[in-house]
Amino acid sequence: MSTPPRSSVDSTPLALIAAVADNGVIGADGGMPWRLSTDMKRFRALTMGKPVVMGRKTFDGLGRPLAGRTNIVVTRGALLPEPAVTVRSLGEGLATATETARSTGADEVMIIGGGTIYAATISLAERLYITHVHATPAGDTVFPAIQSADFEEVSREEIPAGERDGHATTFVVYQRRKS
Ligand SMILES: NC(=O)c1ccc[n+]([C@@H]2O[C@H](COP(=O)([O-])OP(=O)(O)OC[C@H]3O[C@@H](n4cnc5c(N)ncnc54)[C@H](OP(=O)(O)O)[C@@H]3O)[C@@H](O)[C@H]2O)c1
Repeated sequence: MSTPPRSSVDSTPLALIAAVADNGVIGADGGMPWRLSTDMKRFRALTMGKPVVMGRKTFDGLGRPLAGRTNIVVTRGALLPEPAVTVRSLGEGLATATETARSTGADEVMIIGGGTIYAATISLAERLYITHVHATPAGDTVFPAIQSADFEEVSREEIPAGERDGHATTFVVYQRRKS
């Protein structure tokens, strides 16, 4: 998929947030092939108050809009029920999210998936919040390769599996290298 242009005035940084298995898998049959309660709490904290951009299949998988965040959903299909904001292209989605961030004072636009949206936006991202899930599940959706020439690791936290987590994880923040 082609990457939408962002103009130089689009100053709000774009961040991708994803849970990625050791084999790259992020999804299976429209859902996620694990249960990770600790990670869901971190996802909520990191995205709260920020505009979130997602593909229609990810929105369907959520079941309902994420509270406390402007949910911007990219689709070529039918309008989605409010409060979701339906957009017809990724370019329109990023412009809407940037404008929302500006008007609400949010410091990031969060890209929350799925595979098609991550692949089309990773080249625009300033930051990646990646939960590396220590498992190798079967799946049909993957995260694009994180190129070390483009991103450097700026923090890393090892998280043992808690009572309500299927797997141990490592939470890593990657920052785009300065050119
Ligand atoms: N592990 C994680 O962190 C994580 C996060 C998010 C999602 N996921 C998983 O990822 C899977 C879903 O990912 P996916 O790649 O199959 O689907 P997706 O990216 O969520 O959604 C794809 C849909 O978005 C719309 N779309 C995409 N690009 C568009 C464009 N340029 N213009 C207009 N519409 C566009 C289309 O919707 P229409 O068909 O309606 O036109 C397309 O079918 C699920 O299994 C989900 O659980 C995992």
